[in-house]
Amino acid sequence: MDGVQLETLMLEGAGLRLTLPGGMQGYFNYCWLRDNCPTSFDAETRERSFDIFHLQTPPVPADAWIEEQSLVIDWQGEDHVSRHRLDFLAAYAMGRRRPDPAALPRRPWYSDHYPALTRVSHPRLKDSPEERRRWMEALLVEGVAIVTDMPDTDAALTETALLIGQIRPTFFGPYFDVRTHIKPTNLAYTAKALEMHTDVPTEDAAPGVQYLHCRANSVQGGMNLFADGTAAANDLRRADPEAFRLLVETDVPYYKEHDGCDMRARQRVIELDEHAEVSGVTISQHMADIFDMPQRDLDAFYPAFVRFGRMLQDSRYVMRFSLRAGECITFDNHRVVHGREAYSATSGERYLRGTYTDRGELRSAWRAMTTEGRFK
Ligand SMILES: [Fe+2]
Repeated sequence: MDGVQLETLMLEGAGLRLTLPGGMQGYFNYCWLRDNCPTSFDAETRERSFDIFHLQTPPVPADAWIEEQSLVIDWQGEDHVSRHRLDFLAAYAMGRRRPDPAALPRRPWYSDHYPALTRVSHPRLKDSPEERRRWMEALLVEGVAIVTDMPDTDAALTETALLIGQIRPTFFGPYFDVRTHIKPTNLAYTAKALEMHTDVPTEDAAPGVQYLHCRANSVQGGMNLFADGTAAANDLRRADPEAFRLLVETDVPYYKEHDGCDMRARQRVIELDEHAEVSGVTISQHMADIFDMPQRDLDAFYPAFVRFGRMLQDSRYVMRFSLRAGECITFDNHRVVHGREAYSATSGERYLRGTYTDRGELRSAWRAMTTEGRFK
């Protein structure tokens, strides 16, 4: 060294610059530094108790210095000193979003996935954190898993869903019964084929995780069909980028109209996450409203929409199997499309009972299970 001191701390008008461990230069806004003082957070509630709206003037340091690997700030006009650890500051120096342990890379799967499906056992889920971890990891990475050994009770479904989050009702109510109804309000409640779809796109935020508990399945036909919508969407992105773009950008109207009900919402067929990666799909022919987009736009939209809809029915993607009584298939309703073949209603009994929880609670449960959190 030639004796020239490296810059360590420099106060500016709205923030300060400092040298962080490893020599990285960081800039931090004064409001941010005051707002995120360690004393701003209540140890009991773990929430921010400091209210920046109550400061009479914008926070400015009277003095600031580095001491014991911390930035110390004595604030002007306040009887308050903040101490920020330099390693804490380093995590925010680049303006990068906070890393999310639940953002696991998605693994695409295809029609041959059935033997490799993650299977977890209902009795073990209740008392084994490792079994719950395997289950949640499969839901985040592959978007699907089967819970086996389910008791033949309504309570078993509730118990299973509550391991991940609160029951998320839809306008159908908290639970739904998929069997032939005498006066059906939905295609699912008939013995007809049910095309590949995601559930309830008629709500502003369609439910996130779906649970379908098979209570009886002795009919002829009615094979279950599941496909990874993100695998198909990624293949479309490579094969036809313009079709992909249209499906990412076009708002598609959905509806559910019946006695006392007129639900409407708009959804994109392909959903991207913050990294512009495919994070989900929304599709439902039986709930798609009459398209009200400009007719000229439909010249390009329909071919893209039909191409993707046909991909979701293609044998490359569709996993075809028969759910057995005592199994509960759990899946990401924003990623995995599902359907069933027609069945003979008089050939036996077929009864699936379902419910939902939200995606956010799945991610929350995973983070809480696998990471320390900031306040422990
Ligand atoms: Fe469905």
